[in-house]
Amino acid sequence: MKILDGKLAAEAIKEELKLQVAERVAEGKKVPHLAAILVGNNGASATYVAAKVKACEQTGFISTLVRLESSVTQHKLLETIQSLNEDPDVDGILVQLPLPAHISEQDVIDAIDPQKDVDGFHPVNVGKMVQGAESFVPATPLGIMLLLSFYKIDTSGLDAVVIGRSNIVGRPMSVLLSANTQPGNCTVTICHSKTKALAEHCKKADLIVAALGQPLFLTADMVKEGAIVIDVGITRVEDATKKNGFKLLGDVDYAGVAPKCSWITPVPGGVGPMTIAALMKNTFLACSRK
Ligand code: GUN
Repeated sequence: MKILDGKLAAEAIKEELKLQVAERVAEGKKVPHLAAILVGNNGASATYVAAKVKACEQTGFISTLVRLESSVTQHKLLETIQSLNEDPDVDGILVQLPLPAHISEQDVIDAIDPQKDVDGFHPVNVGKMVQGAESFVPATPLGIMLLLSFYKIDTSGLDAVVIGRSNIVGRPMSVLLSANTQPGNCTVTICHSKTKALAEHCKKADLIVAALGQPLFLTADMVKEGAIVIDVGITRVEDATKKNGFKLLGDVDYAGVAPKCSWITPVPGGVGPMTIAALMKNTFLACSRK
């Protein structure tokens, strides 16, 4: 069993971006600028956004963090997005999800300029991604593709199972893995809460992406010998022995599954850092496309 070390791969990507930013500066070009909007005080969301801001510092990007109260009106949030759309210095905009229940996530996503939509959630970018055209690809599935690439894993012809059909991970992941690209060229099955015989699908898979958000869901009996397993789950579970009061659990029962795998991502240190590296890549792309 070999580990797909997302921390290592993400550092390499960020180092490369840092050099590219330095090149731009030497040429008198603008530095990439990411604006992040965080609504409310969700602890996990605040941690993710802080990690994104820190990655900007590491790579020499400019970042702006806009914090809004959880009671903010949808109107005010849309106005904030509009002013970032119109700000020529801002290259990328992300609104951390989930949002409070009184705000329509779809309306918010639709309001972001597709050319600044570094999360790749806007329908224009989703459509282009499905067509294989140049677009912004959502950071988590893009990060997974970059991780497979970093380790030169040939996925051509593999039977892949994606567990979870979210717009953020599962659905775009299935599109990317089935595309005529390397990595890609997989035969993809998407499993979800209504799937009959989910374990049977998993047992036949050469590659499994677990993205359902249910801690320790994928167990050893569901995985065939030699499979590649990618764990997208990152659920906070109370743990009094930890300083911050919680531990992070993936969707995969790592202790049981890892010995059967050819490759596996750990949690933490697998997909998480790759998501951030992919977001940085998208922001650089947004800046250089101008
Ligand atoms: N919430 C969970 N993942 C993501 C992500 O990739 N982008 C944003 N904006 N919110 C998220």
